[in-house]
Amino acid sequence: MKIKTKASLLSFFWLISILIPLTFIIYYLYAQYEKEEELETLQFTANQMLTHISPMELLQEDNDRILRRYLPDHSMIRSLDLSSKVINQAANNDELAVIPPKHIDTHETYSQKLNEQTVMIVRTPIHQGTEVIGTLEIITEPIELDQSLYRLVGIIGIVTLAAMLLSLSASFLLSKLLFLPLSRMIQTMKEIETSLANTKLPLNRKSKDELYQLSETFNHLMERIEISMKKQRQFISDASHEFKTSLTIIEGYSSLIRRWGFENIDLRMEALNAVHTESKRMKHITYQLLELAELDHEPKLTLSLFDLVTLCKENIQLLQPLSDKEFILIPTESSIMMEADRPQIKQVLFIIMDNAMKYMNHHTRIFLSQTDSNHCIRIVDDGIGIPAEELPFVFERFYRVDRSRSRQTGGSGLGLAIAKCIVNLHHGTIQITSDRHNGTEVIVTIPKLKTSNPF
Ligand SMILES: Nc1ncnc2c1ncn2[C@@H]1O[C@H](COP(=O)(O)OP(=O)(O)OP(=O)(O)O)[C@@H](O)[C@H]1O
Ligand SMILES: [Mg+2]
Repeated sequence: MKIKTKASLLSFFWLISILIPLTFIIYYLYAQYEKEEELETLQFTANQMLTHISPMELLQEDNDRILRRYLPDHSMIRSLDLSSKVINQAANNDELAVIPPKHIDTHETYSQKLNEQTVMIVRTPIHQGTEVIGTLEIITEPIELDQSLYRLVGIIGIVTLAAMLLSLSASFLLSKLLFLPLSRMIQTMKEIETSLANTKLPLNRKSKDELYQLSETFNHLMERIEISMKKQRQFISDASHEFKTSLTIIEGYSSLIRRWGFENIDLRMEALNAVHTESKRMKHITYQLLELAELDHEPKLTLSLFDLVTLCKENIQLLQPLSDKEFILIPTESSIMMEADRPQIKQVLFIIMDNAMKYMNHHTRIFLSQTDSNHCIRIVDDGIGIPAEELPFVFERFYRVDRSRSRQTGGSGLGLAIAKCIVNLHHGTIQITSDRHNGTEVIVTIPKLKTSNPF
């Protein structure tokens, strides 16, 4: 069932559940009020009779004629003596005679059922001075009242039915109006789904209701999907380009060798070196791509407590033999304990130190420190630096400041992208500042753990 139908049926049943008890209450209150009015009228007639007719006349036998003057329609008037014996009786509805006469000392008014019909009874004592000498009894069948109550039931029934029909059509109309933007939205989404076009939902800026917010969120989502798809396309084309370059070189040298190479020792060596270098490069890129894919899809951290100073020393030991330039470790404390994913933090440091090693002139300083809330790693080299306009892009995948210079150094432009991913996973920050020809400074800040496992 459509949400539109559900909403209209719900509002319809809600209205009915209010309307029906309400009509019953109206009917009941009206009937009560009318009955009381009728009884009061009878009581008034009885009082009139007692004022205008003397007690003796009322209790004088064969004086029915006096009673007849006050007789209402469909009624019976009786005067009774102290033993409840009927002295006089006037009636225009003989069926009422079956109600037994009853003497009373105080006023009595009530209604009761007689053959499924309501009858109303008023009994008033007849006084002779202070002494009660008999009873005046007026009994009536309130046919007009019954008829007006039937009419009321009819009117209420028709009105209720009309209200039900009106409310049903109004609620269908209202929900159609309310859900019209939603239906349009679904239509546009279907179009987007079939054509994969980057269509945006039209925004009705007049009302900033939930549907407006939904459309706005959907449009934002579409924008993000588009950006991510663009990035993915870019990534695939960059990755293919990297492999294509290496494969072209390998293919070129192998063709050369096939044609000339076996006689020429120098060419053989050159080709072998080129194939070796390019294969190493492809292996390096493949590992990095695999690492990035893992970080993107299964971002999990294995936390352990380790000494950051020792970790840095390990990296220096690995890299120092490969370079004649110097790494200088400057920790603020002899040991800085850190809780994080040790291999990944080591990887971040390696990526930054590897870059520094490629580009520094004389030395690179590594500052390690900690505050109450953070661990801070600053790696400052005195190398060729990065132009200011290139800085915002260095964390992008495959981005290299100078392609020819990176080709010499063997870079693929993935190192800093991996470092950023890892730092983000640790909820930390990585910033890079640089001055052309005056070196580069990379600052990594990793927050300390507050709970046992905040990642
Ligand atoms: N310390 C630095 N000094 C000068 N340029 C740098 C420095 N660090 C990074 N860069 C520039 O930023 C680019 C991106 O660095 P990144 O580490 O991401 O890639 P790469 O070093 O080229 O390749 P990879 O690290 O994947 O082997 C590099 O190509 C280089 O031009
Ligand atoms: Mg690098």
